[in-house]
Amino acid sequence: MSLSGKTVIVTGGASGIGAVYSAALVREGAVVYIADITDGTSLEAELSQGEPGRAIFVRTDVGDEESVRALVGTVITEHGRIDVLINNAALFATLEPTPYDQIDLALWDRVMRVNLAGAFLLCKHVGPHMAARGAGRIVNIGSGTSIKGHPGMLHYAASKGAITALTRTLARELGEHGVVVNMLSPGFTLSDTVVKDNPGLVDVARAGVATRSIHRDMYPDDLVGALLFLASEASGGFLTGQTLLVDGGQLNT
Ligand SMILES: NC(=O)c1ccc[n+]([C@@H]2O[C@H](COP(=O)([O-])OP(=O)(O)OC[C@H]3O[C@@H](n4cnc5c(N)ncnc54)[C@H](O)[C@@H]3O)[C@@H](O)[C@H]2O)c1
Repeated sequence: MSLSGKTVIVTGGASGIGAVYSAALVREGAVVYIADITDGTSLEAELSQGEPGRAIFVRTDVGDEESVRALVGTVITEHGRIDVLINNAALFATLEPTPYDQIDLALWDRVMRVNLAGAFLLCKHVGPHMAARGAGRIVNIGSGTSIKGHPGMLHYAASKGAITALTRTLARELGEHGVVVNMLSPGFTLSDTVVKDNPGLVDVARAGVATRSIHRDMYPDDLVGALLFLASEASGGFLTGQTLLVDGGQLNT
């Protein structure tokens, strides 16, 4: 699952689960562009000391097309190619569970802007570079929430459900150009951000641990193997449009 010499973009890669993805990809030898609104300069420094790969932080708002265009321009100027795109940025850890009839339209729009339009904009601007080279891997981060539903998270679950449709449709558009598009869907994961920002959500979501086949909490490291599989040559060139659900065997797909 080596990513030696590969150029990778990880959106939302400066904190939470994304920071664990960034570190794992650097360990596998990739040059990882961390695209986040959260400051990633200290993570950039930490990951660029002695690892096979290195990290470069580019402050990016995935919901702003100019910001995405600038990011992609920077990566292409500096490396001439983008091998892998990980669409991980989302509004999640800071979302308070809210009944469906109390969700402000402004918040609904913001969630869709970051979680859905953000992934679309990255695909829109990265996809043509991959297609021109006839190679590339896109991994969209979904969520088990969109399969099973989760009270109080209608905006979030709907945004992740739409990521499934985005993944399947893009797989069909890009398949003939050598680009594979898949989705990695985590179950409820104790990322440092969700534990810090949203203890209420942690309490509610943890109640589901008993319904897993493996009765324990899930941590970001539980996702690393699946992420590297989809991002690397290990998954080959014929797996596309699929969802890999990593949740300790809670849902069976
Ligand atoms: N933690 C879980 O239980 C869980 C479960 C299923 C799926 N997920 C998904 O995994 C991913 C990471 O989850 P997390 O727990 O680390 O959540 P998080 O909310 O802590 O992390 C999201 C990251 O996205 C960044 N971000 C937010 N808005 C952005 C913007 N406009 N532009 C660029 N970056 C932006 C944040 O700064 C952060 O680094 C998300 O896509 C989330 O939906 C998480």
